[in-house]
Amino acid sequence: MAQRSDSETGELRDRFSRPLSSLRISVTDRCNFRCRYCMPKEVFGSDFVFLPRSEILSFEEIHRLARVFHRLGVRKFRLTGGEPLLRTDRHVLVEMLATLPESEVALTTNGALLAQQAGALAAAGLNRVTVSLDSIDDDLFHQLNDVRFPVEEVLKGIGIAVEAGLVPVKVNAVVKKGVNDSQLVEFADHFRGSGVILRFIEYMDVGNTNGWRMDDVVSGAGIIERIQAANPLEPIEPSHPGEVAKRWRYRDGEGEIGVITSVTQPFCGDCSRARLSADGRLFTCLFALEGVDIRELLRKGSDDDALIELVSSIWKRRQDRYSELRTRATAKQRRVEMSYIGG
Ligand code: GTP
Ligand code: 5AD
Ligand code: SF4
Ligand code: SF4
Repeated sequence: MAQRSDSETGELRDRFSRPLSSLRISVTDRCNFRCRYCMPKEVFGSDFVFLPRSEILSFEEIHRLARVFHRLGVRKFRLTGGEPLLRTDRHVLVEMLATLPESEVALTTNGALLAQQAGALAAAGLNRVTVSLDSIDDDLFHQLNDVRFPVEEVLKGIGIAVEAGLVPVKVNAVVKKGVNDSQLVEFADHFRGSGVILRFIEYMDVGNTNGWRMDDVVSGAGIIERIQAANPLEPIEPSHPGEVAKRWRYRDGEGEIGVITSVTQPFCGDCSRARLSADGRLFTCLFALEGVDIRELLRKGSDDDALIELVSSIWKRRQDRYSELRTRATAKQRRVEMSYIGG
C-alpha cells in the first residue's frame, strides 16, 4: 500500500500514515427499501430487531461528536443510514452540522423521500446529496430493492435536489452481474449531459447476508469498456484526495461518470474515513466486525478532551485495509451490516 507524506494534511495519522478527514454518520439502521445486496427480506423481515430509540444518539450527541471530529481535522460529514431521510427532523441535524466552520455536509439517500425533503435540507445548509439508484427500469429496480417504488419518483427527487442547489448530485448504482448489467449504456445515457454524476459501484462482500460471490461482480474496467464503446471517455483526476470513485469524462464534453472499484482495484491506501453507527460506535473500516463504543463516554458526562483522546487513540492504532487483503476466505468472515454502518 502506498504511504502518504506527512505534510499532506492534519496531525492525526493511522499506522499507514492516513489522516482522518471524513466522518460518515449513520442516523438510523432502518430503511424503507429491502435491497437484496444489503437488507434481504429473509433476514430483515418483520422479525428483525432494530435499534431501540434509547440506544440511538440524539442530535445533540451527534453534534457534540461532530465537533470533536472537527477538532481532529475532519471537514467532511456525510449522513447515512439505513435511510437517513426516515429519521424525524433530519433537517435540524443538518442545521446543527452546517455551523461547523469550513466543512461540507452531504447525505446519501435512496431518494424515495427526496422530492418532499430536498428543499428543507438545502435551506438547513446541506451541501450535496448522493442518491442510490440501481436502474432506470422499474422491473430491474424492483428486482434489486424488493419494494414496488417507482423509478420516476426517485428521478423527481433528483430533479428537485438539483433545483434546490444540492449539486453536483451524484447517483450510485450497484452493478450485479446478470441482474442490472445489461442496461449500463442506457443508464449512463439517461444522465449524460444532465450535470448529474452517475457512479457504478462494484458489488461488494459487505455484511453477512447477501450471499456475495466474486462471479456476481462486474469490474469497473468492464463497465467503462462498455460505456466507452458507445461514447468515448477519458480518465480525469480525483476531485479530492482519497476520492472513492475513479472519474471518467465524456470526450464530447457531456459530463462525467465514475466507477467505485473496491473489489478489483481497492483504494485503502487513501482511506481517511471513519464511520459512526446510529448507536454511537466508531468503525474504522466498512468491513470491520466490531466498532468502539463512544456513546458510553459521551453519556457518562466526559469532557471533549476525553473524547478527543479516545478517538485519537483509535485512529492512531488503525491498520485496516480489508479490500486490499480480500480473498475467498476473508469474504466469509463475519462483519458489520451495511445498513447499520451506512456504506
Ligand atoms: P463523495 O466522494 O464525497 O461524493 O462521497 P463518497 O463517494 O465517499 O460517498 P458515497 O456514500 O456516495 O459512497 C459511495 C460508495 O462507495 C458507497 O457504496 C460506499 O459504500 C462506498 N464506499 C465509500 N467509502 C468506502 C470505503 O472506505 N471503502 C469501501 N470499500 N467502499 C466505500
Ligand atoms: N455492494 C456495493 N454497494 C453497496 N451498497 C449497499 N450494499 C452494497 C453492496 N453489497 C451501496 C448502496 C448505497 C451505498 C451507501 O452503498 O447502494 O449507494
Ligand atoms: Fe436501504 Fe440503502 Fe440498504 Fe438499499 S442499500 S436497503 S436503500 S440502506
Ligand atoms: Fe477503507 Fe476498509 Fe474500504 Fe479499505 S476496505 S477503503 S480501509 S473502509
